[in-house]
Amino acid sequence: MKYIFGNWKSNKNLNGALEWLKDFGKVNTDNEIILLPAFNLLGAIYNQALEAGFVMGVQDLSSMAAGSYTGAVSAVNLEGMEVKYAILGHSERRHHFGETDQDVANKVERALEAGLVPVVCVDEDYIFSQAAALEQSQLSKCMVAYEPLSAIGTGEEMSVKKVEEVFAQIKKVFGEVKVIYGGSVNPNNVDEYLLVGDGVLVGTASLDAKEFLALSK
Ligand code: PGA
Repeated sequence: MKYIFGNWKSNKNLNGALEWLKDFGKVNTDNEIILLPAFNLLGAIYNQALEAGFVMGVQDLSSMAAGSYTGAVSAVNLEGMEVKYAILGHSERRHHFGETDQDVANKVERALEAGLVPVVCVDEDYIFSQAAALEQSQLSKCMVAYEPLSAIGTGEEMSVKKVEEVFAQIKKVFGEVKVIYGGSVNPNNVDEYLLVGDGVLVGTASLDAKEFLALSK
């Protein structure tokens, strides 16, 4: 079974999200298809998305416990909801919001405490520093996404050979974890990436329901 994540990032309003669900229809595959909508949309489309067969995840999580942290969404806010995955340390979070390896490590801790699967995003340069910021015992509980900066949102395809090499590097550091690839994945190249890893993290191509359907086999 493969894991196919659709990361809508901060795109879509409520109507757009509902329209998307209608266009996609029911999930009809043995693979796990995970939707990552903005937090407000997660709440709004949650029941409908679960009924259609999607698994739900979040694009980020507060590094703090519940409390007086205006604007943050904590693991406690997600309690009682069937949310399975938390994408943590996406390069856009690191770049635009200044997240450090230690921030990501704190988020991994919050996610694990809450029973969420942390999907830790790394580019080649910070596989080691990110792993070093985590507790040894946490490493094997993560899923790791190789997200090369050069391929995110650019349409520039990373060679499958390179992806395979970096997956091997990740496993050397994290242990026998599930590894997924993200960066300009589309219906034409998805098969190659799925052959060498456990799944894909899709941004742009997840925004259009038909396109996402085409790669969610
Ligand atoms: P992209 O985004 O598919 O638009 O390249 C991937 C990602 O940010 O994970």
